[in-house]
Amino acid sequence: MADTVTITDNRTGKTFTIPIENETIKATDLRQIKVKDDDFGLMTYDPAFMNTASCKSKITFIDGDKGILEYRGYPIDQLAEKCSYLDVAYLVINGELPDAAQSKTWQTNITHHTFVHENIRKLMDGFQYDSHPMGVLISTLGAMSTFYPTAKNIFDETERKLTMNRLIAKVPTLAAYAYRHRMGLPYVYPDNDLSYSGNFLSMMFKMAELKYQPNKDIERALDVLFILHADHEQNCSTSAMRSIGSSQVDPYSAAAGAAAALYGPLHGGANEAVLRMLDEIGSLANVPAFIKDVKEGKGEKRLMGFGHRVYKNYDPRAKIIKKMADQVFAMTARNPKLDIALELERIALQDDYFVKRKLYPNVDFYSGLIYQALKFPTDMFPVLFAIPRMSGWLAQWQEMLLDGDQKIARPRQIYLGARGRKVP
Ligand code: ACO
Repeated sequence: MADTVTITDNRTGKTFTIPIENETIKATDLRQIKVKDDDFGLMTYDPAFMNTASCKSKITFIDGDKGILEYRGYPIDQLAEKCSYLDVAYLVINGELPDAAQSKTWQTNITHHTFVHENIRKLMDGFQYDSHPMGVLISTLGAMSTFYPTAKNIFDETERKLTMNRLIAKVPTLAAYAYRHRMGLPYVYPDNDLSYSGNFLSMMFKMAELKYQPNKDIERALDVLFILHADHEQNCSTSAMRSIGSSQVDPYSAAAGAAAALYGPLHGGANEAVLRMLDEIGSLANVPAFIKDVKEGKGEKRLMGFGHRVYKNYDPRAKIIKKMADQVFAMTARNPKLDIALELERIALQDDYFVKRKLYPNVDFYSGLIYQALKFPTDMFPVLFAIPRMSGWLAQWQEMLLDGDQKIARPRQIYLGARGRKVP
């Protein structure tokens, strides 16, 4: 069986044979299909990239129908059980899990870059007292490019690695500072004796104690949440990172754009939206009426934390998080909203509307409940997503830079507007 597809253009009767590679045809191969020699040639129309691969990648594998997620070939549940977030970040970026020596060096490299320039603190001070921490994170990530102008040298491997270390190391510091500013609390400097997650908890919650000692179970729970959020192939924010990065701008600027994409309620803002939705529902008795509203809303009102562009099955990350919720609630008080969430899930999973559309809980359905139990305010939830996703963004950005097939991202359009008008 030949790996080709034969297309007949019924406008001209001409036949074209187009190669298939990796179950894909090249969109540019369609350009030879034209009526007149000076025609542009056939294009594909694919708003929201429903069926267009924009890259070849070796980082993250997803089988949405079977509910499989793997980073560099390792199943997510094994990574969540056996690894630290920093080792997973190393894996996502470098392709292999670090051995003991590599892990130690990597941890030291990241730890050495956790501090931010004091002027970043001054910049933070300029924000309104009630600024959303995600807005502050986006702005300060972008501002970092002005502190490290040599980060522009993206094709210099040493510079690129240094910048990637800095971004992974400093994003928790920026995130915690954004929170402390919001709360009117003094900023807490990084504590290099602590783990990546432990240090973040310290920068968030340390008060008058001389040394903050994170609760080990909470530190581990946060680390697992970070692992689950490290990468998710070509999602909205990662595509933004690749697309902005394709202009060869420095990665601080590209990461600010990726974080902005993550902020939206249909993406990383969904965990915040889930909590607001659970608040709006208020009690178990109101669940059926809410589900009815969603179904009658015909897409305008959504069950937040449900549905996914790729998963048409239970999101494997949601499975791990749901299990973790029980462990976390054993340490903290049980979040009463969990009962509403469980009831929503129970009804939705047997309701025809959701079953037909293959709408299952996604990663955000339960993560917010855990974040809330860990005492993170709701508007920090997308920020908590951005911290670990930085490793995925950077891995994908570097893969794009080193991929000979890539050029500046520049989609085509179908122009349907007026032409050649005269200004009166
Ligand atoms: N609640 C109710 N109906 C839904 C939902 C939902 N959460 N999600 C999709 N649908 C319906 C749509 O109305 C549509 O119905 P129709 O065929 O009758 O028009 C159908 O299911 C398909 O939905 P689309 O919007 O075409 O699916 P798409 O792949 O574009 O959207 C998305 C995926 C954005 C995640 C969507 O499911 C959604 O908005 N979910 C809620 C927000 C959310 O939880 N986002 C987090 C995603 S995970 C992440 O980013 C980390």
